[in-house]
Amino acid sequence: MSTSLDRRSPPSPDILDPIETASRDEITALQTRRMKWSLNHAYTNIEHFRLRCQAKGVHPDDFTELKDLARFPFTSKDDLRQTYPFGMFAVPMDEVVRVHASSGTTGKPTVVGYTRNDIDMWAEVVARSIRAAGGRRGDKCHVSYGYGLFTGGLGAHYGAERLGCTVIPMSGGQTEKQIQLMMDFKPEIIMVTPSYMLAMADAMDRMGIGANNNPLKIGIFGAEPWTGAMRGEIETRLGIDAVDIYGLSEVIGPGVASECIETKDGPHLWEDHFYPEVIDPTTGEVLPDGQMGELVFTSLTKEAMPVIRYRTRDLTMLLPGTARSFRRMGKITGRSDDMLIIRGVNLFPTQIEELVLRDTRLSPHYQIEVSRDNHLDQVTVNVELRADQAPDTSLNDSITRDLQHRIKALIGITTRVRVLLPDSIERSMGKARRVIDMRSPG
Ligand code: DLL
Repeated sequence: MSTSLDRRSPPSPDILDPIETASRDEITALQTRRMKWSLNHAYTNIEHFRLRCQAKGVHPDDFTELKDLARFPFTSKDDLRQTYPFGMFAVPMDEVVRVHASSGTTGKPTVVGYTRNDIDMWAEVVARSIRAAGGRRGDKCHVSYGYGLFTGGLGAHYGAERLGCTVIPMSGGQTEKQIQLMMDFKPEIIMVTPSYMLAMADAMDRMGIGANNNPLKIGIFGAEPWTGAMRGEIETRLGIDAVDIYGLSEVIGPGVASECIETKDGPHLWEDHFYPEVIDPTTGEVLPDGQMGELVFTSLTKEAMPVIRYRTRDLTMLLPGTARSFRRMGKITGRSDDMLIIRGVNLFPTQIEELVLRDTRLSPHYQIEVSRDNHLDQVTVNVELRADQAPDTSLNDSITRDLQHRIKALIGITTRVRVLLPDSIERSMGKARRVIDMRSPG
């Protein structure tokens, strides 16, 4: 039987796609060729994009090398809203075999479409992601990402099937039933949001199974930001390897980038299909690798809905490849939309997460409430005790003091801290809601 340690050893090169170990020159040549096709395809078939190019005085013929991409206009969520629902599709509707949509918190959802070839490419990059995580043909893969318009469930599903896994299509919810089936079917792999994994771990303890008695070896976690501290918590508590998978609906869904189990040093971008840039979010200028900014993607092979310079709002940096020839992205600090500005100080929920997880008396579940008192923003961090802590006033006072002090010292803001009983903070079955903003707009 293979153990987690066997899985850590790098896969032999013959099971990798040749492009995963190609030279940078080969990758650049492929990207340049594909980029030309993608720009032409979008320009010819998407009126909205053609008009944006004309307004900027640029034409696909102006593209000869990758750095020319910087002359082309960005695409944003707003462009997708303006063309809702199908205005960014570049093929006739009878070639679109599937749509997905992301809900978004305000306004219309963004709709994305796929041809049969797109679904095929998507399955391929997700299969590659699962293999990078140590998954192999014959493994059982429990999928708890939501199925439906969200890309998580079906994206993971097709990729796991493509690799030759036995897929258990659970979707989110019915937590106790999920756990029962997990104990009976004994999957090696789970694909789920990190926050729902923790909710499942709590439920395993409550059911008397014990979180560390699970049959899993590998967890492939994404769809929301999660810190290195959270990885430590999940790996220790569940006794599994936890790796990061990244993606977004507009670009394809999960499988735009994924981490390799042997290095766990940030997701490798599947650059043969998605060309990344990092830009200064204010000026739009392209930044060199290693500098933090907003991640932007151009699809290189997508047919139904090619995206050119799509602004993700995700903040990270590009890093050189390690376990693969493709570049990596740093762990995502947060989305620019999720950044709170509290009395002039920028705050990402992941910064609070790091500090909450440092206190072994606290569970890893937390929520941040923002309110406004007398025109001043107030932040309250809700945390909860671990199940083995006996609540009492002096314990609560000590936790509150420690956490307030750390947040003030390391982030620079004064907060209120509310220490709650175990199991008080709402558990998500998909993406966790980390911030409750009670400030009235304006
Ligand atoms: O969340 C696709 C996905 C499903 C990725 C399952 C991974 C696993 P959307 O709902 O369109 O698609 O949300 C995309 O989620 O722009 C990031 O802000 C965030 N996100 C996704 N993966 C990660 C990750 C899916 N690994 C948005 N780390 C993205 C941090 C992530 N944030």
